[in-house]
Amino acid sequence: MWTSYLPYLKVVGVVSAAFFVLACSETKTEKVPVQPEVNTSKGIVYQPSELAKTMRKMYVNMKLVNEYLDSNQMIPDSLLLGYESMLTDVPTKPKEIGATFYGFAEGWLLELETFSQDRTIGNYNSLMNACVHCHQSFCPGPIKKIKRLKLIGM
Ligand code: HEC
Repeated sequence: MWTSYLPYLKVVGVVSAAFFVLACSETKTEKVPVQPEVNTSKGIVYQPSELAKTMRKMYVNMKLVNEYLDSNQMIPDSLLLGYESMLTDVPTKPKEIGATFYGFAEGWLLELETFSQDRTIGNYNSLMNACVHCHQSFCPGPIKKIKRLKLIGM
């Protein structure tokens, strides 16, 4: 019977929800309310916000950009497009997103433009610094991970 999997699925749901809470927080003790989506056929399912999805795409694509740059290969333009949605994406905690967020976002998009025009390691690292700057105010959890995207040897 599929229902025998239910307790297991609940555990998976709670674990991934807990992981998600940690995504933006630095300390494991910080308490952030979570609203997991409840899906009766599959137990509790964590749904990342639109902004979180865009961020994941940015992270994965920047990792590829890093590899192309590091091995002196042409960077496909597709990896540098489609991030303007960060200005309109619904975040996990809309109340925490305000004018400062949009300032950082516009700044980041300008750095992206600069890097697109002139794809140097220096411009790439500035772009990664711009990720970190916004994260220092809004989402400190992934900062270490983002810093590892930077390249040495300018
Ligand atoms: C303008 C501010 C801003 C900039 C710039 C920014 N981020 Fe984010 N990032 C956020 C916020 C806010 C969240 C939380 C999103 C949510 O939970 O809705 C986030 C979440 C994330 C996450 C976690 C996503 C998840 O699974 O929950 C990763 C990874 C991430 N960002 C990587 C990056 C990388 C890499 C860059 C640069 C290429 C970047 N971010 C630039 C604000 C920013």
